[in-house]
Amino acid sequence: MKQALLTRSTRPDRSAARRSPALRASPIADVRRGGSSALFVTTEIADFVKTGGLGDVAAALPRALSRWHDVRVLVPGYPSVLENIRGLRWEGWTRPVAGLPAARIGRGCTEDGLGIYVVRETSLFERVGSPYLSPSGEDWGDNAVRFALLSMAAAQIGAGSAGLGWRPDLLHLNDWPTALAPSYLRWHGYATPCLLTIHNLAHQGLFPLELKESLGIPSWAGDADYHGQLSFLRAGLLQADMLTTVSGHYAQQITQASQGMGMHAMLHRRASQGRLVGIVNGIDDSWNIERDPALPLAPDRDPDSIRRLARLALCAEMGLEPHKGPLFAFVARMVAQKGIDLVCEVGAQIVRAGGQLALIGCGDADMEAAVRRLARRFPGRIAAHIGFTEAVARRMFAGSDFLLMPSRFEPCGLSQMYAQAYGSLPIAHATGGLVDTIEDGVTGLLFADSCASELRKALARAFRIHDEPELMSAMRHAAMALKHGWEHSARKYSALYGRAMAQPAAA
Ligand code: GLC
Repeated sequence: MKQALLTRSTRPDRSAARRSPALRASPIADVRRGGSSALFVTTEIADFVKTGGLGDVAAALPRALSRWHDVRVLVPGYPSVLENIRGLRWEGWTRPVAGLPAARIGRGCTEDGLGIYVVRETSLFERVGSPYLSPSGEDWGDNAVRFALLSMAAAQIGAGSAGLGWRPDLLHLNDWPTALAPSYLRWHGYATPCLLTIHNLAHQGLFPLELKESLGIPSWAGDADYHGQLSFLRAGLLQADMLTTVSGHYAQQITQASQGMGMHAMLHRRASQGRLVGIVNGIDDSWNIERDPALPLAPDRDPDSIRRLARLALCAEMGLEPHKGPLFAFVARMVAQKGIDLVCEVGAQIVRAGGQLALIGCGDADMEAAVRRLARRFPGRIAAHIGFTEAVARRMFAGSDFLLMPSRFEPCGLSQMYAQAYGSLPIAHATGGLVDTIEDGVTGLLFADSCASELRKALARAFRIHDEPELMSAMRHAAMALKHGWEHSARKYSALYGRAMAQPAAA
């Protein structure tokens, strides 16, 4: 019976709707505001839930795009979404497919009116924990079902079959948890254009092959098959009409074996067809040093005065003693990708050379423990806040002289842009979006290899620059003058929406 729902067609096929009750379209009342429409599908949006940069991007990009398109966001109905969304009404539903349950689709909005659709399935999404992990830090055991359901809901909305009276012209998917949506559409005979943004190729949505049938993946379909497992991401990389990633440099790197995480051959092929494009992320308008409520008020409103006061506030709250040397900051998840282990290795050198170090973030238990040990070794000189408090992070960007970003790989990175906007110079490994956003010796420092010896050399450079107040001030002002707003990037996404709609990959 389930097999009868599926079709091999990848072209628009009216008869498919008859064969496919799961995605069969309901009458569409077209309520567009003009321009085309898009459903932005994400597991995080900073208004309600955020574990990393995706949450920030999902909050900023749809808003920036709404200038040209009717963009609405689809998120799972986590408790934080259900509690904070405005004006939630239950408007539609998704039909069950294979082992994926039915779910209700609600519609509400953010405080400023961005339209939000919510997939509600209590047993899958209403839990205490992060979107991906249980409170003990393990992946939720049923993540395959949870995110296949999110992808299926996106596909049914994209097919106009979720009873919403609205059908987007395009699905904008983000990372592996949404990446089965293009395949679900194609298997059911729908050609709804899909754009998939890769925020991090390291997370590929790998699950046991035995789950295939229960996830509604036809036995004949190989899109998600990957070395004896299922990879949600692979299906999306194959089937989306357009792929984007979050910087130009990362777009090139992932087509090569060293950074392609096993997907480079396919990504190389898609890039050569013009179907993989890098668009660097922006940062939102809240990153304005003169108007940030997390920063102290300076009577003259001068950014340099705000920075001085932010430094005092930060040192007091972190327990750092007053000191003349440079203050280095680390603001990131404490995981290997971000090179937190390298920062721990050079901590003593920073102190010996007369500097201080402040760290904020959480992550792997062993890395957190190493950071705690380091702070205990150098009281007053090295301080750590394990956890994440946005306001403290903002004071770190405004109160520090340098931000350490020795990431092993970094699709885009946002912290370097936050730091530049607030006058802290990023010291970063020359990888991914860090190359797109930092000009070495002008708006920050770049070093070639992500190892402690290279980071040490970069630190020595930083100390020398700090000793030359004029150079330091010129670099700081060059960094603060950069324009990292979303408008330019949103324009590029808008053009790609147009391209995906005009030239679907299957055409
Ligand atoms: C991921 C990437 C980061 C990027 C963010 C938003 O977290 O690791 O580099 O900035 O997504 O796109």
